[in-house]
Amino acid sequence: MNIIPQPKKFEKICGSFKIDGDCFIFCDEQFKVQAERLVRMIESSVNVNVEFTDEIDSAKIIFSKYEECGKEDYFVMLSQDILTVKFSDMTGCFYAVETLRQLFGLDKKREIISCDNCYIEDSPKFSHRGLLIDVCRHFYGSDVLKQIIDLMSQVKLNKLHLHLSDDQGFRVQIDKYPLLNTVSSSRDGSEVVRNGKRYVEELPHGGFLTKDEIRELVVYAAERQVDIIPEIDIPGHSVAALAAYPEFCCTGQVTEVRKQWGISKDILCAGNDSTYDFVRDILDEVSDLFPSEYFHLGGDEAPKDRWCNCKLCRERLSELQLQNFDELQTHMVEVFRKYLESKGKTVICWNDGLTASSDKEIVSQVWKPLADSDGVKDANSGRKVIMSQHFNLYFDYPYAMTPLCKTLRFKPLKGVNKANCQNVLGVEGCLWTEYVDSSDKLFFNLLPRLDALAEVAWGYRSKNFAKRLKNRMETYDNLGLIYNGKALNIKKRKFGVIKKYLNKDANIELNVYLNRQ
Ligand code: ACM
Ligand code: ZN
Repeated sequence: MNIIPQPKKFEKICGSFKIDGDCFIFCDEQFKVQAERLVRMIESSVNVNVEFTDEIDSAKIIFSKYEECGKEDYFVMLSQDILTVKFSDMTGCFYAVETLRQLFGLDKKREIISCDNCYIEDSPKFSHRGLLIDVCRHFYGSDVLKQIIDLMSQVKLNKLHLHLSDDQGFRVQIDKYPLLNTVSSSRDGSEVVRNGKRYVEELPHGGFLTKDEIRELVVYAAERQVDIIPEIDIPGHSVAALAAYPEFCCTGQVTEVRKQWGISKDILCAGNDSTYDFVRDILDEVSDLFPSEYFHLGGDEAPKDRWCNCKLCRERLSELQLQNFDELQTHMVEVFRKYLESKGKTVICWNDGLTASSDKEIVSQVWKPLADSDGVKDANSGRKVIMSQHFNLYFDYPYAMTPLCKTLRFKPLKGVNKANCQNVLGVEGCLWTEYVDSSDKLFFNLLPRLDALAEVAWGYRSKNFAKRLKNRMETYDNLGLIYNGKALNIKKRKFGVIKKYLNKDANIELNVYLNRQ
């Protein structure tokens, strides 16, 4: 068996099943789009024609709806020369086809297609199986995002979190504030670690997703059972927007889109009513584009230095009788949470942006363990959580810092009380792109971590991951993608490589892999 993620139940049965020219396929009209995908996969792998039939008795491949199957679940049975697929919804049917793609190795040209008989029963443990792509620090457009969606869907990942606004770039078309797509969507240089040093390279970088591109991407993702969750990060990580509209920060003095990485003290002013209008207008346009039930409001890394020194922020603090500026952030987020709730959205925030008084409906995306907030504490306190612990699930770090096995070994429910396990919505890997300046680097850092992420997020991690991964790597080869084929050999941290990554060459691992050194 060579499937990633490991299915819930797999049993081998005597005999084998061959797909040949005598194979007819039967499928209810409603799900034919999935059966047709399977037919296309077969035809591109082997030179046989699989035809549809209306008579179930003459079919060798049978797709049938089975009401007792749960959402996203499916069964596959190969026995006595019949392949039967059962599911109750489009997602389950889609996933069954993805399992067959891997089971028969359909990504590769073959002389014959056959496989040992087996019985598969499958159902995900977690509903949120996500990946964050930061398109701000370096912009990646629709084509790369579509490739990522394809790869995600093959391993049953279902949430693409797009980080659309940050200090270094604003990446979504907003009609009401056109400067967000001129001034805020490009910068004059970027911090690099190269040639043995860290410096700002004065080279323009920019781009943004147009509304038409997003609408197309959302449909493309939905066809692959992937939901796209937008993130507009507030009140911090807002320098790019403030460079165009400095009237919405406390000092009125942000002049350019940030070239360096790290954390800026310039954040949205929480005491100025017009800031709230500005954000609401952006949320209107962005939420119209993304049908997802979730909307991410960021909230991370928002230093309060400017608020402490701002007359309007101080006045707002005392008007609202708040204890401190963290509570003012909680108030600000609550204003927008309520606004988004009125549009049917559930808000997600990074865990460091939440306080004890943050509304209980806000989902905590836990990246940073804190004294009063980590995945376990948040879930046990009754809050819904998404696990993105940076030690395990940050894919921008080099493999020398976060080896594949650290991702694979992550246990999303460890320490969570049984009664609160349902609060763990799932797991999300994060690919921040400060030092990811090419799609080669993007795929090198992502693959095969995406497979480990899927194994953890689907929930039935099994010991023979390495053997199963070989098949995924064959697929990456066939697609001509760059990936870290040696990722499994890295068993622990390599401090020498980390030091070089930080001080001399941020692309050290990719360059070694490509033999550039
Ligand atoms: C984060 O890494 N600042 C969420
Ligand atoms: Zn202010």
